[in-house]
Amino acid sequence: MDFTLLESVAKGNLTPGTYDYYAGGADDELTLADNLAAWQRMRLRPRVLRDVTDVDLATTVLGTPVSMPVLVAPTAYHKLAHPQGEIGTARAAAGADTLMIASTLATTSLEDIAASVDAPRWFQLYVHRDNDVTRSLIERAVGAGYEAIVLTVDLAVLGHRPRDERNAFSIEGHEMANLQTGTPDAEGSGLAAYADTAIDPGLTFEHIEWIKSESGLPVLVKGVVRGDDAAMAVDAGAAAVVVSNHGGRQLDTCIATADALEEVATAVGDRAEVYIDGGVRRGTDVVKALALGARAVLIGRPILWGLAADGASGVTDVLEFFRTATARAMALCGAASVDDVDRSLVV
Ligand code: GLV
Repeated sequence: MDFTLLESVAKGNLTPGTYDYYAGGADDELTLADNLAAWQRMRLRPRVLRDVTDVDLATTVLGTPVSMPVLVAPTAYHKLAHPQGEIGTARAAAGADTLMIASTLATTSLEDIAASVDAPRWFQLYVHRDNDVTRSLIERAVGAGYEAIVLTVDLAVLGHRPRDERNAFSIEGHEMANLQTGTPDAEGSGLAAYADTAIDPGLTFEHIEWIKSESGLPVLVKGVVRGDDAAMAVDAGAAAVVVSNHGGRQLDTCIATADALEEVATAVGDRAEVYIDGGVRRGTDVVKALALGARAVLIGRPILWGLAADGASGVTDVLEFFRTATARAMALCGAASVDDVDRSLVV
């Protein structure tokens, strides 16, 4: 799939402010670019003569079976992309027999997303300064049948996003349905104004246990790029860590996720699962991620481009591209199942 083309189709359907919000990153957007480049720098060492007549992509994520090691990352405000919004994305993910992580900042309530499809799903959580807000989000996610909480930890404050400042980005005409509010009127980014006042910069490792006990659900810690932090998160009760730099939207010049993955996977060992997002665009990227220790990858922007281009069916196209491309890359690496993808495949 030509993601440049898909992105340009999506761009034609979006307001300039929304396009910039999705496409953009922090400051000079160096990490945004490096997330892609890091996968491209790595080289594969394929095995041959391994009988790859049947390539099986199936795996499990925290015990939940999925048809492939490709999940839908949490991203905000899907109704800005397409009127179907998060429900379009959820239907496509369910149709592909994979899992969607619904965002706290969704434009569809977590209950409405849950009611729209019968599929496993996880809820991404921002811890708010107002404890009642956080507690209520957790309670509602549990009530609506979400099976894990994905705690985002790399947004103590919002990254500086020049495009959103320039555009005075807001979700005008839409609401953050889980929080029943829009973005505040602001001279610069309305999201920055929201994050500054609402999101808790006091987050620590102790919140992991708190969320675990409030929810009774496994907690994934998303936004880790160091082995020591990953080990501490697991010690603090995390069931998984997600290697992420928030798609290059938070701390510019942060290490690319592909470059951080192996250190994190080594630190975690078999005590927890490891996931990764950031710049995954090819089946070969998925194979590299698995080889370096990820259980599955999370796809962010391409899902939004698919949604903006053609609603649920655009998202389906993106997910089916990843299925075909991953199967092909595995076959060419001599891997008939995800268990055959090992560290030696990548240099
Ligand atoms: C929200 O999480 C964003 O990155 O804009």
